[in-house]
Amino acid sequence: MYQIVQGTVGDLYPGTFVKPPKQKRWGRQGRPMVFATILGVVLVMAAIVAWCYYTISLRRAEILKTEQLHLKKDGFTIHNQGGDVIFQMFFRSGSLDLDSCSKENGILRCDQSEAGKLNFFVQTVRPKDTVMCYRVRWEELEESRSVEHAMSFNGSHWYGGAEQAIQRWPMSVEGREAPKPFITGDVYSNRQDFGSILERYWLSANATAIKINDSVPFHLGWDDQEKVLRFQARYNDSPYKPLPGQAPLAELSYRVCVGRDVTSIHKYMVRRYFNKPNKVPSEVVFRQPIWSTWALHKTAVDQEKLLKYASDIQKHGFNCSHLELDDRYTSGYGEFEFDPEKFPNVSTMFQRLKDDGFQVSLWTHPFVNYDSANFDVGVKRKLFVREPSGQLPALVNWWNGIGGVLDFTNPEAREWYASHLRALKTRYGISSFKFDAGETSYLPKQFSTFSPLHDPSTFTRRYTEMAIPFNDRAELRSGYQSQNISCFFRLIDRDSVWGYELGLKSIIPAVLTISILGYQFILPDMIGGNAYPNRTLGSTGLPDRELYIRWLELSAFMPAMQFSIPPWAYDDGVVEIARKFTALHETLVAPRVLELAGEVLDTGDPIIRPLWWISSEDEAAYKIDSQFLIGDDLMVAPVLEPGKQERDIYLPAGKWRSYKGEHFDNMKGPVYLTDYPVDLDEIAYFVWTG
Ligand SMILES: *[C@@H]1O[C@H](CO)[C@@H](O)[C@H](O)[C@H]1NC(C)=O
Ligand SMILES: *[C@@H]1O[C@H](CO)[C@@H](O)[C@H](O)[C@H]1NC(C)=O
Ligand SMILES: *[C@@H]1O[C@H](CO)[C@@H](O)[C@H](O)[C@H]1NC(C)=O
Ligand SMILES: *[C@@H]1O[C@H](CO)[C@@H](O)[C@H](O)[C@H]1NC(C)=O
Ligand SMILES: *[C@@H]1O[C@H](CO)[C@@H](O)[C@H](O)[C@H]1NC(C)=O
Ligand SMILES: *[C@@H]1O[C@H](CO)[C@@H](O)[C@H](O)[C@H]1NC(C)=O
Ligand SMILES: *[C@@H]1O[C@H](CO)[C@@H](O)[C@H](O)[C@H]1NC(C)=O
Repeated sequence: MYQIVQGTVGDLYPGTFVKPPKQKRWGRQGRPMVFATILGVVLVMAAIVAWCYYTISLRRAEILKTEQLHLKKDGFTIHNQGGDVIFQMFFRSGSLDLDSCSKENGILRCDQSEAGKLNFFVQTVRPKDTVMCYRVRWEELEESRSVEHAMSFNGSHWYGGAEQAIQRWPMSVEGREAPKPFITGDVYSNRQDFGSILERYWLSANATAIKINDSVPFHLGWDDQEKVLRFQARYNDSPYKPLPGQAPLAELSYRVCVGRDVTSIHKYMVRRYFNKPNKVPSEVVFRQPIWSTWALHKTAVDQEKLLKYASDIQKHGFNCSHLELDDRYTSGYGEFEFDPEKFPNVSTMFQRLKDDGFQVSLWTHPFVNYDSANFDVGVKRKLFVREPSGQLPALVNWWNGIGGVLDFTNPEAREWYASHLRALKTRYGISSFKFDAGETSYLPKQFSTFSPLHDPSTFTRRYTEMAIPFNDRAELRSGYQSQNISCFFRLIDRDSVWGYELGLKSIIPAVLTISILGYQFILPDMIGGNAYPNRTLGSTGLPDRELYIRWLELSAFMPAMQFSIPPWAYDDGVVEIARKFTALHETLVAPRVLELAGEVLDTGDPIIRPLWWISSEDEAAYKIDSQFLIGDDLMVAPVLEPGKQERDIYLPAGKWRSYKGEHFDNMKGPVYLTDYPVDLDEIAYFVWTG
């Protein structure tokens, strides 16, 4: 055994090898020389190998990095200038063979995965000084394979995607969900669906946005443990179909863009990827409330009730942009004639309403029930969506029975439907229509259409086009790439409850979400919700009085108001508050909204904006889901809690004047007003003064 002795500085002979210091330097020549030479050679070789290895890996690292994106075999990250990760994607369906990657002209390509050949590339595009985009595409070359990339939503706040039954702002998901078709659905009837309005677009507080390519057979899943959204492309067990003549090779392609701040990157994405409306709907709809028969009378509506409703509106001194005659005025679903029992004097009725100054819109939908007079017509003329073989009409189950769905990819079906709507218009002077449904989830799982639909949600887009001739006052509830249908889009029906599940608290998150998806003429549906017996708070059959008042106040600050349960169903106090807020809507809100609506045609920017729009430096602003902005200079903070006559308010940096006339001068930064008093007949709002 050696004993290690601590040597002094310069002592080269430790331990038992201690030699007399005077011994001749190269005393025992031969062996050490050979040893040293060998060692030297080895060292030099090692250095060469290390150097080669180093340069190769440097080159590889160079290849695998494109701008701020770093590619690894199982995913990629995008960094900001400071080196922090601001975007992360994991490859889930396979990993890349990095040796197969090369870079040329700013395009990074790989053509092998661990499972075989594929086409993969990342292309960088710098459309503006302040924006950097990465086009990513992973294409499988074998038919049965699917592609899945999982996007991390950890560490940031995300917005966009779809309307949901439980709507949160920022977005949030619960549990785990395997990827399912990202198609329009009715969350009122099926709370697991994706909503009536959706787009393949997400935006994060880290100034990063992702748009999935239209050509992708896109399925979305999630995992709240791993904190990822799962983006999947597949044709197996899927309603997506390859384009005619193409093999079902799954391809996942998308564009990730990074900008200076969240507002500017969002503006960039909207201008680049979303359609924009080309006109503003009728001004009067922005100014005066719509009155619908639905929550009040449901399907029991008739001529007498409609006339009474109209005269009550006038008697109580309210304005009305139009009366909306909802479900159901026909004998069968899919007919366009009034039920003679319920509406014995249709022409006289419409004449009377007209004489009293009312415009009227009618409810309509894409279904023709099997027991309606028009079902035969639809079958004979092949107007319906058909089962996969294309031989027979497909039957679907919707909330009012079983029937066929008009095939809006078929010009003949479009014309048949449109001609009936036109006839109602000319015959009775109907001003417009409430286009209900239109979701892809009401198509059969497997189906065929006149023009094949690669992406089933295109059905929604085709349906929304039917509203174009009536756009002035038309109301749609579904939308997919439909931002250029210049109509009001309403939120899906609400229950008469306070919470996030289709209740009062869900309204701001839902409105902000569809604003981010590019839909700006927003109708937040009926004040107080649907008033369905078993989904309504309150014992009188009416929505709870306090809930109704808070709902009314919030609606007054939305682009349009819609009543159904009338204020006089409660008491004079409620009528007073309703008059105050409809008047405030008309004088304070509508002029601003109309000005912003004009700008939407140029920019596509939201009318109703999240607080981060003007407060993007402040993390707290990204989490606020109970306040919003109208444009940049009117901030609204409604009370959304039962029993509360005060609330905490986040006031962004700036000079503000409250509705009570107080001045706040907080140029240095945002402030919180805690327990700010807001009476039952008030809503807190603040106007920017500089
Ligand atoms: C991303 O956003 C989160 C939340 O806003 C923030 O905490 C984090 O610092 C951001 N990361 C970077 C790199 O900007
Ligand atoms: C996106 O889809 C279009 C067709 O819709 C296609 O032409 C384009 O190449 C696709 N982009 C990528 C990056 O795959
Ligand atoms: C999310 O981010 C936090 C903080 O950066 C980290 O501690 C945590 O492990 C992350 N979670 C997941 C699932 O990545
Ligand atoms: C309404 O129709 C009913 C039944 O057809 C008829 O008896 C009545 O006279 C009509 N009233 C008006 C005002 O036209
Ligand atoms: C809307 O945009 C689409 C392209 O995405 C276009 O085909 C259509 O003609 C545009 N206009 C209207 C009114 O639909
Ligand atoms: C609520 O009422 C509807 C229609 O009357 C009924 O179908 C449903 O089962 C009821 N739900 C509950 C939870 O009672
Ligand atoms: C009705 O409209 C008039 C004229 O635009 C307006 O002055 C009035 O305040 C409105 N009334 C209510 C109750 O909204």
